[in-house]
Amino acid sequence: MRTRTIGNRTVSAIGLGGMPMSIEGRPDRDRSLATIHAALDAGVTLIDTADAYHLHADEVGHNESLIAEALRTWGGDATEVLVATKGGHLRPGDGSWTIDSSPKHLREACEASLTRLGVEAIGLYQLHRPDTSGVPYEESVGTLGELLDEGKIAMAGISNADPEQIRLAQEVLGGRLVSVQNQYSPAYRSSEPELRLCTELGLAFLPWSPLGGISKAGELGSSFAPFQEVADARGVSPQQVTLAWMLATSPVVIPIPGSSRPETARDSAAAAGLELSAEEMQRLDAAV
Ligand SMILES: NC(=O)c1ccc[n+]([C@@H]2O[C@H](COP(=O)([O-])OP(=O)(O)OC[C@H]3O[C@@H](n4cnc5c(N)ncnc54)[C@H](OP(=O)(O)O)[C@@H]3O)[C@@H](O)[C@H]2O)c1
Repeated sequence: MRTRTIGNRTVSAIGLGGMPMSIEGRPDRDRSLATIHAALDAGVTLIDTADAYHLHADEVGHNESLIAEALRTWGGDATEVLVATKGGHLRPGDGSWTIDSSPKHLREACEASLTRLGVEAIGLYQLHRPDTSGVPYEESVGTLGELLDEGKIAMAGISNADPEQIRLAQEVLGGRLVSVQNQYSPAYRSSEPELRLCTELGLAFLPWSPLGGISKAGELGSSFAPFQEVADARGVSPQQVTLAWMLATSPVVIPIPGSSRPETARDSAAAAGLELSAEEMQRLDAAV
């Protein structure tokens, strides 16, 4: 498996996004565990989750618990796997997503994630979203800095951040910011300024919904014909071509495609081994 870097950790170039296994339309527990195990068996060593990946109000951290169980029951070396979780989002249980990135909430959320993941320090803790209700960004990111100082988190990242927030976070953390997780896919290119900045600063860039999101991922080939054409010529899926294309855009990119089935987890992981030619890249770049 091709590898990439997040801070001081080496991880697989393709990660696994845990969200589809815990929100609307999720599979049962056995299929979820089989999906995570399939990704791990394929060489994936980065799993992205969040305390807010759950459905009902009384099951906060549903996805973190699943991942912890999958790692406990996997036959391989789980210490090689970086679990990246997030705090600052909440789901009250009515289908909505709310935000609380106050220092008090982030501290409580981090403690709860530590317990659910069963670790002494969270591998990568990401601020899920800026809180626009009046919590200054510096305060939210500053809390991540304190958690780093206290050894509760090993690395700090941010998500849904613009270039100004990336620079501010890097300053507040005294140069200890390691990653940015933003939406990025053939259908959603508006995070390109953040991707360029991460490349310049050497920060890992984790595209979320890299296949267009849970409901659109299946349509990739019909929405972007050249991705289907390259896929047909190579005998692979258009989703695999999309992930390989993304990897080729910058050495800091580490896509985290979501999966709820072992087949898709395996297929996505295989994108790390798909090298596209300059001509194929030109065709794909022209299509987005
Ligand atoms: N930071 C944030 O605010 C934020 C927001 C959204 C998501 N995320 C993270 O980003 C991850 C990825 O985003 P996402 O799950 O929303 O969307 P996505 O990765 O664009 O799409 C997920 C869907 O793609 C399908 N899929 C995956 N690999 C495939 C393949 N090789 N061939 C065909 N279909 C494939 C899966 O189908 P099956 O279900 O059938 O396996 C899954 O439902 C999430 O899981 C989450 O960890 C973060």
